[in-house]
Amino acid sequence: MNVYDGQRIAAMLTARGMTQTDNVADADIIILNTCAVRAKATDKVFSALGRIRNEKKPDALFGIVGCVAREAGSDAFRRIPELNFVLGPQSYHKLPEILENPDTKLLNIDLGGLEKFDELPQMGKSPAVAYIPIQEGCNHCCTYCIVPYTRGRELSRPFNDVLKDTAHAADTGAIEICFLGQNVNGYKYTAPDGKTYRLSDLIREAAKLDQVKRIRFTSSYPTEMTDDLIDMFRTEPKLLPFLNMPIQSGSQNVLTRMNRPYSLNLYIDIVDKLKAARPDIQISSDFIVGFPGETDEDFEQTMEIAKRIRYINSYSFKYSPRPHTAAAIMPDQIPEKVKAERLAKLDAYLNELQRDFNESCIGKKFMCLYEGPDKTGKHLVYRTPYMQQCITDAPSDTSFAPEMAQIEITAANKASLRGKILS
Ligand code: 5AD
Ligand code: SF4
Repeated sequence: MNVYDGQRIAAMLTARGMTQTDNVADADIIILNTCAVRAKATDKVFSALGRIRNEKKPDALFGIVGCVAREAGSDAFRRIPELNFVLGPQSYHKLPEILENPDTKLLNIDLGGLEKFDELPQMGKSPAVAYIPIQEGCNHCCTYCIVPYTRGRELSRPFNDVLKDTAHAADTGAIEICFLGQNVNGYKYTAPDGKTYRLSDLIREAAKLDQVKRIRFTSSYPTEMTDDLIDMFRTEPKLLPFLNMPIQSGSQNVLTRMNRPYSLNLYIDIVDKLKAARPDIQISSDFIVGFPGETDEDFEQTMEIAKRIRYINSYSFKYSPRPHTAAAIMPDQIPEKVKAERLAKLDAYLNELQRDFNESCIGKKFMCLYEGPDKTGKHLVYRTPYMQQCITDAPSDTSFAPEMAQIEITAANKASLRGKILS
């Protein structure tokens, strides 16, 4: 989501004749696009702000956009008085106001809904992977999560607007479409004529575009995985056989306290249905360890579910208390040391699963999407349908780097694959 927001901000400034620089000291405007999901992310923003204020040109405009802006609000100006603007994730399209009135302070952390999508210019050229947001905010109120506060209630974008953005991305270079939403599979839009559209409808329409070769979506909430969507994995070959469907914890008690009221059996049933629809499908998850009150036994149940599903690629985090959330004031907060031990144990196991899956790919052939050369320029980097990085030797004719290539996997480690381009 933040990559997308950053691209739209860049497009807005480019349309005003600005160019990008990597050098803070050269910049006329410096924008930090921020994430507030864990305290560490927020802390990093403020330490970066402290550094940048000493490096920037004295008259350069300087500000934050995104979830930390919404979290901190006017307090951000108190902490860093040099800041010129603080704009929340749904009000960054107001940025031109500060360009027009550079001597003021601009604060806007309103939840403006879908307004930004209408007000921002389209990107001139799409990257090969186009992120298309289909919804803002989230109606699930997981007790640990700041997102419902920072991005507001869930709103699905009009079906035709999403299709227009998808077609524009395809016309300007996109090969892969990634539909985005905090609760992406909960997408539901009722048009003025009363017809309701779901994510499965968006996938079906996107797949009709010849330029689009791959489709995926993230992030899914388990119980929103409806049969029409599961069926798309059976019928739509452009939909990648890879799904991020966070479980967060393998303990029923912890899930209840997280306000994620699905049963573990239901989650397992959904995975089984997905496998029946698409036997080669693989699942990834997010995990939180050390949620308030999590016992050793609860944690062992998380290890168990990881073993049961055999996630191929997961993200795991120590629970981080966030403002505006119910869990932050729950009793039985878990000591940092215990959280760290549990995270190390879970991570080691998830890495093992990832390595096993990567090794099981040796000898297989996958249609992969070109990402770019590696740092040395001697290799090409591709993405497999499971989002694994696959490195191939650069052909002697370096202009030959097909955007989609059939690749045979020749070696694997935890982080990446090696492969040979077949065609
Ligand atoms: N502490 C730790 N991890 C969190 N996440 C969300 N909120 C928190 C928190 N307070 C994780 C969840 C989510 C991912 C995007 O971030 O696992 O799926
Ligand atoms: Fe946060 Fe995701 Fe839960 Fe929504 S579903 S509240 S974004 S963790």
